[in-house]
Amino acid sequence: MSELLRAGELVALPTETVYGLAADALNPAACARIFTVKGRPLIDPLIVHVAGKEAARELAFWSEEAESVATAFWPGPLTIVLRKRAIVPDLITAGRPSVALRSPEHPLAREVLRRCRCPLAAPSANPFGYLSPTEAHHVRDSLGDQVTHILDGGPCRWGVESTIVDLQEPVTPRILRPGAITAEDLEAVLGRPVTTVTKATDTPEAPGMLERHYSPQTPLCLFSWDAPHLPPTGNRARVYLKKPEGSSPVGREDFWLSENGSLKEAARHLYALLRRLDRMGFGLIEVEKAPDEGIGRAYNDRLRRAAAKR
Ligand code: TXA
Ligand code: MG
Repeated sequence: MSELLRAGELVALPTETVYGLAADALNPAACARIFTVKGRPLIDPLIVHVAGKEAARELAFWSEEAESVATAFWPGPLTIVLRKRAIVPDLITAGRPSVALRSPEHPLAREVLRRCRCPLAAPSANPFGYLSPTEAHHVRDSLGDQVTHILDGGPCRWGVESTIVDLQEPVTPRILRPGAITAEDLEAVLGRPVTTVTKATDTPEAPGMLERHYSPQTPLCLFSWDAPHLPPTGNRARVYLKKPEGSSPVGREDFWLSENGSLKEAARHLYALLRRLDRMGFGLIEVEKAPDEGIGRAYNDRLRRAAAKR
């Protein structure tokens, strides 16, 4: 796979968050194919994957803050946005002065990075706007034979995309996309408040944080137990965080993401279940909201975007 990447080909590979569609980040022609295959607008920049801090320093202007968070959370589900160096092709950053960097933890991704000895541009391996793939066959299912090389590393451990933190203004670090690494995790390392950008309109500089994104074809909405809701009627699927217990009979339209209500497990299974439901012909998918804590925030964020108006 590393030879293919060095020769300018695209390879889908597993990371601990979701599967990525990778190309040599220093080869603009190869990166251009990523945009074509995904149907991704050229204004939406790509994340660059690196083996570690040393490689990151060659691509971006490193800082004390970057050093601290990378030491704490790399390799892992954290993407750091910093001012880019000239070596990074403008195509990758969509012309902006910053670059998003991540050192993935998945052993196969690490092995490929080690062998190909180049940084890898890799967005999630799905058509633009659709659910990210968390298993190798999801890549094949939605990108088909446009992607001939897929490395199968089994189901992804986190199942939601990395946290993106913008450290360009070190005094005011901002989370552009919530993920497994939370604001509290970052605050504990940086020793200062970390804000989270919640609305797409707050981030003209991150067009990828589109209000509607990460969506199945089937309309989706969120429900929570505190808000009164109607019993499922018609052609709806209901997705619970936890397996329903007690006397209420479980219907054909009832699904759950975790046996015991674990948020980590629910996040891990979310996209795979939504992909499955998307093929079952439901008119609506109702998904239970998670508590706003830990990875529950990333889960709610993705579902809110999936539910946003078309
Ligand atoms: O977990 C992940 O991050 C996965 C795996 C494959 O690493 N990748 C992923 O990439 O989710 P993608 O392209 O689907 O999402 C990357 C997001 C985009 O929404 C993009 O707008 C944002 O990162 N991004 C990339 N470069 C940026 C930059 N310089 N400034 C702000 N946002 C940036
Ligand atoms: Mg994506």
